[in-house]
Amino acid sequence: MTERKSYYITTPIYYPSDYLHIGHTYCTVATDTVKKYLSFLGNDVFFTTGSDEHGQKIEQKAKESGMGPKEYVDKIVEGIKELWEMLEIDYDAFIRSTDDHHVKAVQNIFQRLYDKGEIYKSHYEGHYCTPCESFWTDSQLLEGELCPDCGRATHLQKEEAYFFRLSKYRDRILELYRDNPAFILPDSRKNEMINNFLKEGLEDLSVSRSTLDWGIKVPFDDKHVIYVWIDALSCYLTALGYDGINPESMGKFWPAHVHFVGKEIVRFHTIIWPAILMALELPLPDRVFGHGWILFDDDKMSKSKGNVVYPEPIIELYGIDAFKYFLLREFTFGSDGSFNKEKFLQRLNSDLANDLGNLVSRTVSMIEKYDGGTIYSPKGSQPVDLELSELAVGTAEKVEELMHNFNFSYALEEIWKLVRRSNKYVDETMPWVLAKENPERLKEVLYNLAESLRVISVLIYPFMGKTSEIIREQLGLIEPAKWEDAKNWGLIKDGTSTNKGNIIFPRLDIEVELGRLTEANQKLLDKRLGKKTVEAPEEKPQVTIDDFAKLQFVTGTVLSCENHPKADKLYVIEVDLGYEKRTIVSGLKDWYEPTDIVGKQVIVIANLKPAKLRGIESRGMLLAAEDQNGELALLTTLNEVENGASVS
Ligand code: MSP
Repeated sequence: MTERKSYYITTPIYYPSDYLHIGHTYCTVATDTVKKYLSFLGNDVFFTTGSDEHGQKIEQKAKESGMGPKEYVDKIVEGIKELWEMLEIDYDAFIRSTDDHHVKAVQNIFQRLYDKGEIYKSHYEGHYCTPCESFWTDSQLLEGELCPDCGRATHLQKEEAYFFRLSKYRDRILELYRDNPAFILPDSRKNEMINNFLKEGLEDLSVSRSTLDWGIKVPFDDKHVIYVWIDALSCYLTALGYDGINPESMGKFWPAHVHFVGKEIVRFHTIIWPAILMALELPLPDRVFGHGWILFDDDKMSKSKGNVVYPEPIIELYGIDAFKYFLLREFTFGSDGSFNKEKFLQRLNSDLANDLGNLVSRTVSMIEKYDGGTIYSPKGSQPVDLELSELAVGTAEKVEELMHNFNFSYALEEIWKLVRRSNKYVDETMPWVLAKENPERLKEVLYNLAESLRVISVLIYPFMGKTSEIIREQLGLIEPAKWEDAKNWGLIKDGTSTNKGNIIFPRLDIEVELGRLTEANQKLLDKRLGKKTVEAPEEKPQVTIDDFAKLQFVTGTVLSCENHPKADKLYVIEVDLGYEKRTIVSGLKDWYEPTDIVGKQVIVIANLKPAKLRGIESRGMLLAAEDQNGELALLTTLNEVENGASVS
């Protein structure tokens, strides 16, 4: 791709009804990778994500938490933004459906459609699914009047409502699919839309609710709020500045190159959305990609099942690149896939530690060991070199073709073919033997390995930017990566110096890591519930009972407590041990007034070697407990015993 183009790409706007899990993260990571890839190829890309904040579900959730809806979503949206920041997601707009300009634009859209006769007022009676906020016709319901989207029970509901003339767009939508075979991807989803929804004809769509408060009001009838999907879908326009806010950006980026959405919301994006755009006389998006779901051990993730996987602990423990690599490599974008922690850790070990990490570390180590860290241009080549270089420079084109269809997993697989071929090249050429027998040939071999890694560093850049940079740094490459450089061989300059660094992906002990992941996940859940977690104290070596017996703990009563004349933070305390009186200098001043302490029975280490503290000899120490927040509690006895009693 040489011509510079403008692309607009989007994720759905997420419901901030709860914290996002790995499934939501999947679409954002994929879209972000497309942004990074298309930009890397020299294009202008605008990437929108955001939050879909209105509707019954959110209103209910907020109520359960004892908050107003806006206050509730503000908290969750903050968490979503933190997650995207943690993942270094490169979005250009984060649209919130509560943003003023969005609200106004949605009202204008509604008004415009009403004025054009595309929206009219009537009554609706139908089977309503509260969690999905959708009415369903008899023919759409599953057996037992269950919702076809979520499988839950529906109930009959009648209400006054505004309707959008969706029915009249059926033929134009079918035409759209016919004329643009790539409008819905993957292909199977198109058949689903035709067979399940369009074949039997479309009904007009109810686009207002009178039973709900938390939403955008119909501008000319404030008894009604606008149906959440009209509100939500419009975000793709408002994020760009539709409705007079930013005509330049609209002109440059609309229509969208692709909307990435999960499979269950393809219907909204490929039937309702094009119909609204047709009614508004706006150009239609080029493509809608309906990706699959990430399941947990083949089951749907849900909070009630307790199988939700949150991304934060994984990222904290293994880094952004390992996490992104796994998501994009493990699952085929258009199909469902199942997550489990073992699978994740195994892939890290095989693809990242054994394949890529190993290739980097052995290449750079050998260049340092055999050639003092200098890469020399080769003087000749052998057939095995040609095989490697041809595979290397041919990979970029394959990746382009696969990325054109958003086939991330196969694109990464192509790159890994080169990684594995390069490792095989080491085994075939045996540099350790050449080091003894043929140093000139060794230089050629090491150059070819460095070149292959250079090409790999370019190819992985959109997927794993940090890793790419580390590899380039270790190879001593100063210039930033350019996509076209992956198509050429021999770009490393003669005399380039390598910089050996740390191992990029260490091999993991799966049992140990499973424990760490569970612990990190629990910590996150506790934090979200407001529970404080306590770190285990630093472990000390075990002692025997004899070691313990060396310390003499006794009870004593505090007789007096005075300020230390020469130290702001210390008290001089007189303690009666029964058999003698002791002076103890103690740092309790930040926590206790003298009156809190005098008269209390305390525990003293009586055989501690005396020490002079600011001129006063301290003979012993009072026991106190200090927590991780720096709070302190002086130890006392539960009931009084004689002073001088031995404590054990
Ligand atoms: N708010 C609507 C979208 C409006 S777009 C104009 C919505 N929100 S959602 O939060 O419920 O879902 C957002 C996206 O996350 C959907 O595309 C959905 O498919 C995706 N995922 C939610 N759980 C998922 C998995 N377990 N796996 C993959 N994606 C999943 O729908």
